[in-house]
Amino acid sequence: MRHPCAGPLADGHPVTAGIIHPMSLTSTSASPLRPALFAQLGGALIVFALAYLLPVTWLRQPLILAVLQGLCASGISWKLDAPRWWCLIHLLFMPLVVIALALQIAPGWYLAAFVLTLLIFWRTDKSRVPLYLSNQATAMAVADLLPTNANVIDIGCGDGHLLRRLALTRPDCLFTGIEHAPATWLVARLLNMGRRNVTIRYGDFWQHSLSGYDTVYAFLSPAPMPALWDKVQAELGSGKRLISNSFPVPDAPADPVIEVDDPRQTQLYCYTIGLKTIAKPQN
Ligand SMILES: C[S@@+](CC[C@H](N)C(=O)[O-])C[C@H]1O[C@@H](n2cnc3c(N)ncnc32)[C@H](O)[C@@H]1O
Repeated sequence: MRHPCAGPLADGHPVTAGIIHPMSLTSTSASPLRPALFAQLGGALIVFALAYLLPVTWLRQPLILAVLQGLCASGISWKLDAPRWWCLIHLLFMPLVVIALALQIAPGWYLAAFVLTLLIFWRTDKSRVPLYLSNQATAMAVADLLPTNANVIDIGCGDGHLLRRLALTRPDCLFTGIEHAPATWLVARLLNMGRRNVTIRYGDFWQHSLSGYDTVYAFLSPAPMPALWDKVQAELGSGKRLISNSFPVPDAPADPVIEVDDPRQTQLYCYTIGLKTIAKPQN
């Protein structure tokens, strides 16, 4: 049964054998790489044109060119309405490249840093979900929300710390974590090795059926929430629950919303599948 406040299911998310793919989630999920490339190339073009047209030699210093390129790229990014932290990235990117080149670090270090980052964060550009971890207070609040003997999955389980805490606090429940970043998955496996009520799987949770679980825990980002809502409604049975840390499902009122007593004032948005919830009027 679909949530009465949800949008239509057939809204472009392909459904294959009960699995919903997050292909065209929403405009918020479009890859940020294209506008970023556009801003960088635009900045470079403007600066090359300036250096070519203006007869001043000091302008041709690599660091000055890089700073100017950063300013232009940042301005373009601002104009494109990119999130503000992208403007900072554009501002610093080329100057840092020039400084790093001047330090003459062996290329192997760059490759190693790239591979390590990839193994930890994997395709964040595609998933739009970075790595950050649920804290102890949140784990305790989640533990309180779980029914007796529940079968629970953490979709994108990170380093498995949350599952470890939950498994210790709620030995009556069975916990599964699924993670697609290889290094993070390995840490989760090692951290939960030998723990009877935790299973850590490697893979993409969009390809993993959620049927059979009583509670789905997600700590993702705003981008996948509409598609995730479609997936849980299609695959979770009536009365089962989605708990989303920090990111609500747009247009689906959560009931309840738990306010965790922690420094970041975490909110846990709970959605029960098939529960008729009346949308509160917006003031
Ligand atoms: C914000 S972290 C949350 C980690 C953990 N659930 C917690 O609360 O501490 C999100 C994790 O989801 C993983 N992730 C993102 N998209 C995924 C996908 N499609 N399949 C599996 N893991 C994914 C990321 O690699 C990251 O480790």
